[in-house]
Amino acid sequence: MMSRNTLNFILGLVSFLNLSGLVFTGFIMKYILPPGTGGVGRILHGGTGRGVLYKELWSMTRHEWGSIHFYLAVMFVVLMIIHIILHWTWIKYYVKSFFSH
Ligand code: HEM
Repeated sequence: MMSRNTLNFILGLVSFLNLSGLVFTGFIMKYILPPGTGGVGRILHGGTGRGVLYKELWSMTRHEWGSIHFYLAVMFVVLMIIHIILHWTWIKYYVKSFFSH
Protein backbone atom coordinates (compact mmCIF):
# COMPACT_ATOMS: atom_id res chain seq x y z
CA MET A 1 0.00 0.00 0.00
CA MET A 2 1.21 3.48 -0.95
CA SER A 3 2.25 5.70 1.98
CA ARG A 4 0.22 8.78 2.83
CA ASN A 5 3.13 11.02 1.83
CA THR A 6 3.46 9.37 -1.59
CA LEU A 7 -0.29 9.66 -2.12
CA ASN A 8 -0.23 13.39 -1.21
CA PHE A 9 2.80 13.97 -3.42
CA ILE A 10 1.19 12.28 -6.43
CA LEU A 11 -2.12 14.09 -5.86
CA GLY A 12 -0.26 17.42 -5.59
CA LEU A 13 1.70 16.75 -8.78
CA VAL A 14 -1.41 15.66 -10.72
CA SER A 15 -3.28 18.74 -9.40
CA PHE A 16 -0.47 21.02 -10.53
CA LEU A 17 -0.40 19.50 -14.03
CA ASN A 18 -4.22 19.63 -14.16
CA LEU A 19 -4.35 23.33 -13.20
CA SER A 20 -1.53 24.15 -15.65
CA GLY A 21 -3.58 22.43 -18.39
CA LEU A 22 -6.67 24.44 -17.39
CA VAL A 23 -4.77 27.74 -17.61
CA PHE A 24 -3.15 26.68 -20.90
CA THR A 25 -6.40 25.63 -22.63
CA GLY A 26 -8.21 28.65 -21.10
CA PHE A 27 -5.67 31.07 -22.59
CA ILE A 28 -5.98 29.37 -25.99
CA MET A 29 -9.76 29.95 -25.97
CA LYS A 30 -9.47 33.48 -24.66
CA TYR A 31 -6.63 34.80 -26.79
CA ILE A 32 -5.82 32.49 -29.73
CA LEU A 33 -9.23 31.12 -30.73
CA PRO A 34 -11.73 33.74 -29.48
CA PRO A 35 -15.49 33.34 -30.14
CA GLY A 36 -16.43 33.57 -33.79
CA THR A 37 -13.28 32.01 -35.20
CA GLY A 38 -15.00 28.64 -35.77
CA GLY A 39 -17.66 29.90 -38.17
CA VAL A 40 -17.01 30.77 -41.80
CA GLY A 41 -18.92 34.08 -41.57
CA ARG A 42 -16.04 36.37 -40.81
CA ILE A 43 -13.79 34.87 -43.42
CA LEU A 44 -16.50 34.85 -46.15
CA HIS A 45 -17.39 38.45 -45.37
CA GLY A 46 -13.89 39.73 -45.65
CA GLY A 47 -12.76 39.32 -42.06
CA THR A 48 -12.91 41.95 -39.35
CA GLY A 49 -9.85 43.95 -40.31
CA ARG A 50 -8.07 42.67 -37.20
CA GLY A 51 -5.70 40.47 -39.17
CA VAL A 52 -5.80 36.71 -39.67
CA LEU A 53 -8.33 34.80 -37.58
CA TYR A 54 -7.15 31.29 -36.80
CA LYS A 55 -9.82 28.60 -36.79
CA GLU A 56 -7.61 25.87 -35.35
CA LEU A 57 -4.57 25.39 -33.19
CA TRP A 58 -2.68 22.07 -33.60
CA SER A 59 -5.66 20.74 -35.62
CA MET A 60 -8.16 21.35 -32.82
CA THR A 61 -10.99 23.88 -32.99
CA ARG A 62 -12.12 26.20 -30.17
CA HIS A 63 -14.85 23.68 -29.44
CA GLU A 64 -12.37 20.81 -29.03
CA TRP A 65 -10.10 22.92 -26.79
CA GLY A 66 -13.25 23.80 -24.83
CA SER A 67 -14.03 20.11 -24.30
CA ILE A 68 -10.54 19.48 -22.93
CA HIS A 69 -10.90 22.58 -20.70
CA PHE A 70 -14.21 21.24 -19.41
CA TYR A 71 -12.93 17.68 -18.70
CA LEU A 72 -9.92 19.17 -16.89
CA ALA A 73 -12.32 21.35 -14.83
CA VAL A 74 -14.39 18.28 -13.84
CA MET A 75 -11.17 16.45 -12.96
CA PHE A 76 -10.07 19.48 -10.89
CA VAL A 77 -13.22 19.30 -8.76
CA VAL A 78 -12.66 15.54 -8.18
CA LEU A 79 -9.00 16.17 -7.23
CA MET A 80 -10.01 18.90 -4.76
CA ILE A 81 -12.63 16.62 -3.16
CA ILE A 82 -9.97 13.90 -2.70
CA HIS A 83 -7.62 16.59 -1.32
CA ILE A 84 -10.22 17.66 1.26
CA ILE A 85 -10.93 14.01 2.22
CA LEU A 86 -7.20 13.34 2.72
CA HIS A 87 -6.91 16.37 5.01
CA TRP A 88 -10.26 15.99 6.74
CA THR A 89 -8.78 15.20 10.18
CA TRP A 90 -6.54 18.27 9.91
CA ILE A 91 -9.52 20.46 8.89
CA LYS A 92 -11.65 19.11 11.79
CA TYR A 93 -9.01 19.85 14.44
CA TYR A 94 -8.18 23.23 12.93
CA VAL A 95 -11.84 24.36 12.97
CA LYS A 96 -12.30 22.92 16.51
CA SER A 97 -9.31 24.93 17.74
CA PHE A 98 -11.29 28.12 17.14
CA PHE A 99 -13.94 27.07 19.67
CA SER A 100 -11.65 25.60 22.32
CA HIS A 101 -10.38 28.86 23.87
C1 HEM B 1 -6.19 31.50 -16.66
C2 HEM B 1 -7.07 30.53 -16.51
C3 HEM B 1 -8.32 30.37 -17.36
C4 HEM B 1 -8.73 31.00 -18.52
C5 HEM B 1 -8.04 32.09 -19.32
C6 HEM B 1 -10.02 30.42 -18.88
C7 HEM B 1 -10.77 30.77 -19.99
C8 HEM B 1 -12.00 30.26 -20.28
C9 HEM B 1 -12.83 30.68 -21.39
C10 HEM B 1 -12.44 31.73 -22.44
C11 HEM B 1 -13.98 29.98 -21.32
C12 HEM B 1 -15.17 30.11 -22.25
C13 HEM B 1 -15.11 29.05 -23.30
C14 HEM B 1 -16.20 29.24 -24.33
O1 HEM B 1 -16.69 30.37 -24.49
O2 HEM B 1 -16.52 28.26 -24.98
C15 HEM B 1 -13.90 29.10 -20.18
C16 HEM B 1 -14.90 28.22 -19.79
C17 HEM B 1 -14.84 27.40 -18.67
N1 HEM B 1 -13.81 27.34 -17.77
FE1 HEM B 1 -12.07 28.36 -17.90
N2 HEM B 1 -10.34 29.46 -17.95
C18 HEM B 1 -9.34 29.41 -17.00
C19 HEM B 1 -9.27 28.60 -15.87
C20 HEM B 1 -10.26 27.76 -15.46
C21 HEM B 1 -10.24 26.97 -14.22
C22 HEM B 1 -9.09 27.00 -13.19
C23 HEM B 1 -11.40 26.26 -14.18
C24 HEM B 1 -11.92 25.27 -13.17
C25 HEM B 1 -11.41 25.02 -12.02
C26 HEM B 1 -12.15 26.58 -15.39
C27 HEM B 1 -13.38 26.05 -15.71
C28 HEM B 1 -14.14 26.41 -16.80
C29 HEM B 1 -15.43 25.83 -17.11
C30 HEM B 1 -16.18 24.76 -16.29
C31 HEM B 1 -15.86 26.46 -18.28
C32 HEM B 1 -17.17 26.19 -19.03
C33 HEM B 1 -16.87 25.12 -20.05
C34 HEM B 1 -18.00 24.85 -20.98
O3 HEM B 1 -18.88 25.70 -21.12
O4 HEM B 1 -17.96 23.79 -21.61
N3 HEM B 1 -11.44 27.49 -16.13
N4 HEM B 1 -12.69 29.29 -19.55
